[in-house]
Amino acid sequence: MTELLDSGERLGRDELSALQLERLRATLRHAYANVDFYRRSFDAAGVTPDDCRTLADLARFPFTAKSDLRDHYPFGMFAVDQSRIRRVHASSGTTGRPTVVGYTDRDLDTWADVVARSLRAAGARPGHKVHVAYGYGLFTGGLGAHYGAERLGCTVIPASGGMTARQVQLIQDFRPEVIMVTPSYMLTLLDEFERQGVDPRSTSLKVGVFGAEPWTEAMRKEIEDRFAIDAVDIYGLSEVIGPGVAQECVETKDGLHIWEDHFYPEVVDPFTGEVLPDGEEGELVFTSLTKEAMPVIRYRTRDLTRLLPGTARVFRRMEKVTGRSDDMIILRGVNLFPTQIEEIVLRTPAVAPHFQLRLTREGRLDALTVRAEARPDATAAERAEAARAIATAVKDGIGVSAGVEVVDPETLERSVGKIKRIVDLRDH
Ligand code: DLL
Repeated sequence: MTELLDSGERLGRDELSALQLERLRATLRHAYANVDFYRRSFDAAGVTPDDCRTLADLARFPFTAKSDLRDHYPFGMFAVDQSRIRRVHASSGTTGRPTVVGYTDRDLDTWADVVARSLRAAGARPGHKVHVAYGYGLFTGGLGAHYGAERLGCTVIPASGGMTARQVQLIQDFRPEVIMVTPSYMLTLLDEFERQGVDPRSTSLKVGVFGAEPWTEAMRKEIEDRFAIDAVDIYGLSEVIGPGVAQECVETKDGLHIWEDHFYPEVVDPFTGEVLPDGEEGELVFTSLTKEAMPVIRYRTRDLTRLLPGTARVFRRMEKVTGRSDDMIILRGVNLFPTQIEEIVLRTPAVAPHFQLRLTREGRLDALTVRAEARPDATAAERAEAARAIATAVKDGIGVSAGVEVVDPETLERSVGKIKRIVDLRDH
């Protein structure tokens, strides 16, 4: 196995720390010298790049929020001349302007390297065929996966998202070993295989590299069983580079190794901003270590996780993301994430892995209704029992009452990319 590792993955922990510090100091200097926003924010906090003498000193520097990127729309966070920007991507976000990110030639090279490393950790090898069903375009998923797979020496099938019937056809005809897609769209593909009368366990696929949205161990089991593949997690975000910030290794499936030679992680208390020790759950924060076009300093991801020691690699791991603070539902004082409902729905017989969360207001209180889809063969009695079981599990496991509707098969909207679990019908 070690002969397959690249030079970054072979570093010892001390060598890695030394490299991180050197790269961190260079990044702080680059950001301070070339981005007005960072100069002003460092000045306001009374720090200069020279104040960073150890990795722990990073905690003295101010955070960067998504709103800072939006405020400098479109190109205000770029640290190099526009002539050196080779590509831009953007993430739509739920409100207002998109967040724009840029890459130099070297950044694109780094990105392809980290995605190739991710794919290798997932079990892909040169010569494999990789079906990319992440969307191509301004979203980083498609093109990020694409160039990483090429870099590893794979044959890329750039399917992009949508045209589900054709995706199934392509998978049968081209016989890829690897698929890269959101877990929710994989479920849409599953339905389509069944609709076409093709056994999803009979395909050439061996590995699925799933990310761009939170998903649970229960979903991993569902996908692995239904397709007879290994399902591993890939994490990333446009602001930091795109997919390929962290990746789960297929041999351990124990959380995602963060490619720490390029992205320095911290976990902070989401309310106080205080840095938490490894092992404690909080908000994930990233500082880029090698990016040229758009360095990010202490970027607050809003993703909740904890840092764990490395296992299959020297790099630290992050636990599977349980949710984003943006998706947290507060219901009568109880915090709840869609992933908690996912676990419950997936272990309930008679319902399919498709569900939606509806928020409404009843008088002065918020109310939650879980809408889960019945499996096609479920009887009326089984459906009623499933509704009761879900309501009980939500009440006992999460500590809040929710309505449950088991709806007819094929009635909930299917994902073609990132799924939207929450439908908010409250008037604000
Ligand atoms: O979703 C990049 C990506 C593409 C990652 C393909 C993996 C695969 P954005 O559109 O900027 O970038 O969205 C980033 O998606 O902050 C998380 O909230 C969420 N996210 C991404 N990967 C995971 C994952 C891409 N594996 C935001 N688990 C992040 C949970 C994820 N959430």
